[in-house]
Amino acid sequence: MSPLVGLDVGTSGARAVAVDEAGNVVAEASSGYPLHSPRPGWTEQDPADWWEGAKAALGKVAAEVGGDVAGIGLTGQMHGSVFLDSADEVIRPALLWNDQRTGEQCEEITEAVGAERLIQLAGNPALTGFQAPKVLWLRDEEPENYGRVSRVLLPKDYVRLRLTGEYATDASDASGTLFLDVKGRDWSGEILAALGVPAEWMPKVHEGPQNTGGLREEVAVELGLPAGIPVAAGGGDNAAAAVGTGIVAPGLVSSSVGTSGVLFAHTQGFNPDPSGRLHAFCHAVPGEYHLMAVTLSAGGSLSWWRDAVGGDFDDLVGAASGVPPGSEGLIFLPYLSGERTPHLDPRARGAFFGLTARHGIPHMTRAVMEGVVFSLRDGLEIMRGLGVPVEDVRATGGGARSPLWRGLQADVYGEPIRRTAADEGPAYGAALLAGVAAGTYADVGEASAVVRLREGVTEPDPRRAKAYEEHYEVYRSLYPATSDAMSRLTELATAASEEEKPG
Ligand code: XUL
Repeated sequence: MSPLVGLDVGTSGARAVAVDEAGNVVAEASSGYPLHSPRPGWTEQDPADWWEGAKAALGKVAAEVGGDVAGIGLTGQMHGSVFLDSADEVIRPALLWNDQRTGEQCEEITEAVGAERLIQLAGNPALTGFQAPKVLWLRDEEPENYGRVSRVLLPKDYVRLRLTGEYATDASDASGTLFLDVKGRDWSGEILAALGVPAEWMPKVHEGPQNTGGLREEVAVELGLPAGIPVAAGGGDNAAAAVGTGIVAPGLVSSSVGTSGVLFAHTQGFNPDPSGRLHAFCHAVPGEYHLMAVTLSAGGSLSWWRDAVGGDFDDLVGAASGVPPGSEGLIFLPYLSGERTPHLDPRARGAFFGLTARHGIPHMTRAVMEGVVFSLRDGLEIMRGLGVPVEDVRATGGGARSPLWRGLQADVYGEPIRRTAADEGPAYGAALLAGVAAGTYADVGEASAVVRLREGVTEPDPRRAKAYEEHYEVYRSLYPATSDAMSRLTELATAASEEEKPG
């Protein structure tokens, strides 16, 4: 069979992988693009950059496999809002998943739909990063732009429109809008009506492995791919990564450290967390669901730290490996872009707590990494509390490649950590979903049966695990003790940046 291609429209760049029928990666390519932050707490990208990045990555992979591709599956960063006019022109830069500007709109949504009803229908409370409050923000802050809107798409689905000409999405990514009836796996007329958002703006919702349309002739020629090959609905980056790491049955959990950090558990039915701290979303497996905890700045915290102090990741992480667990009494709160799980607080801010004259860069690097994993542990605790079985934890994302990140996860969770052989993240899972659309595999179960685990398992070390248990208790006490101060600082910073605005 011809190779299958997965395309991930990520936050730092587009990534394509080609996979053969047995699940071996036969080609891969990436192409980066910028992220813009016009004000504190705002994050935006230009959909034209996604399209150029996607074409560059797809074109390179196509060339490597000699243009022989059976199908393409799409995945990408979730929650973003691409506003299109009636000619499919992008109206303004897209607001991203980690943008925090929509606090007021979230309050309006909670009021309009009702807090409990929102969790029953959409599986989640109104959260600033999700798509629905971004739509209301446009209505409130840029009414002229709002008046031009004819369609609202998620990031990967904008790329799909350019590839196929179709307005389509998949149920897992659509779950991150807050407009979806997650149990019913289609748009919620009740939510759309309560928010005054026209249903015609929404793309058609498919299951992950369904074909949403063939590759357009002119794009196929430009990229060196066969025209008309199926483009699978795919999944949000976390659901697609779960397919690619075989998280397609109860008891399986993935722990991903990428820009954001995600703990992902497969669930058979729709069982939302009544407190709303975990996301309850559709899976990219037809008819199935998942629960997810999100740390907004995971690898993003380490990137921020590397940018702040200079140097490269390997040197910094190498030096941090020599620091004792707990970083000699230093704790980092990774709330650099506010936080989702467990605090649901866009005003949360990061911190180093416990600094002494003894601490240097290696301690601080280790504390950053430990703080990120403590934040993921918060998600694991909520899952355990809800009775979600946790039997097999698999590391994924960029962090899976680092022995220190893997060791920290094993020690802080107190669970052995496994790792898949391919380790290619969301793009790999999207390629497997393409394989179902192309007829290479009968269903997602057969597709994910190609996922193989590596031999080595990272076991928790009892001594380190005990030290982390004690430090985790201190970590947990810090947010409640400082959240008022964090909130006030955010108000002050916002006021200062408003004053500096030109005009
Ligand atoms: C999930 C989330 C992030 C983005 C980034 O809810 O916001 O994982 O999908 O890739």
